[in-house]
Amino acid sequence: DDPAASPVDVAAAAARSIAEATGVERHDIALTLGSGWGQTADVLGETVASIPAHEIPGFSRSAVAGHPGTIRSVRLERGGHALVIGARTHLYEGLGVRRVVHSVRTAAAAGCSIMVLTNGAGGVRPEWAPGTPVLISDHINLTAASPLEGATFIDLTDLYSARLRAIAREVRDLDEGVYVQNRGPHYETPAEVRMARAIGGDIVGMSTALEAIAAREAGMEVLGLSLITNAAAGVSPHPLSHEEVIEAGRAAEGELARLLAGIVGRLS
Ligand code: 6GU
Repeated sequence: DDPAASPVDVAAAAARSIAEATGVERHDIALTLGSGWGQTADVLGETVASIPAHEIPGFSRSAVAGHPGTIRSVRLERGGHALVIGARTHLYEGLGVRRVVHSVRTAAAAGCSIMVLTNGAGGVRPEWAPGTPVLISDHINLTAASPLEGATFIDLTDLYSARLRAIAREVRDLDEGVYVQNRGPHYETPAEVRMARAIGGDIVGMSTALEAIAAREAGMEVLGLSLITNAAAGVSPHPLSHEEVIEAGRAAEGELARLLAGIVGRLS
């Protein structure tokens, strides 16, 4: 919480704490599990250690149902370790962008060169039924925030790695879409969803874009995956509810687990 502390130093302290708690000096791949993706870590490999996130420097206690709040080290079958982040801070919590991207910076400090960002999100395209996983091809950041501080002019071309997307498509055929990050926590109005579609958006959500920018700044390769949990406002014939979002995630769990395991198996 110290505004004078360098975010990179806090992330380095978090990475040291993870290394001590897990006995794993270096992690290779990091995965942030969003709504619906929570149980998928179990099939990636054997969990070496599971740490409550609030015991690690810079992490806060998660307040949102469906966001479990643990950091796990998972030994991958083909060698190496995954850092599985089940604790996401959202911009809408009002804790600032540093908190939002702290887990990504921690993953980089822990040695990860690949950042897999998953989320549950609203579908702007009517053909995507709830439960459909979609690859993120690019994003539009409508939060008016950035994780970068100062004159850090980084390139975001191919932010969502074409190489990693091709690997994901080897596992199964997946549609791609442009993710629009809004601040939330309210869902969009139908007019805002029409705007999202008009400016080239396919998916609306409240996470991921800021984290992807931080991952790029840290030199990581990024893969983004959205589970369409519901049709966005105006696209859906009925009002949106958080319960519907959680339920769609629950129903898709097995399929998402197989997809992520297939992807991670091809990466390591
Ligand atoms: Cl419709 N919008 C946003 N911003 N986030 C969501 C969502 C919609 N559905 C799930 N998450």
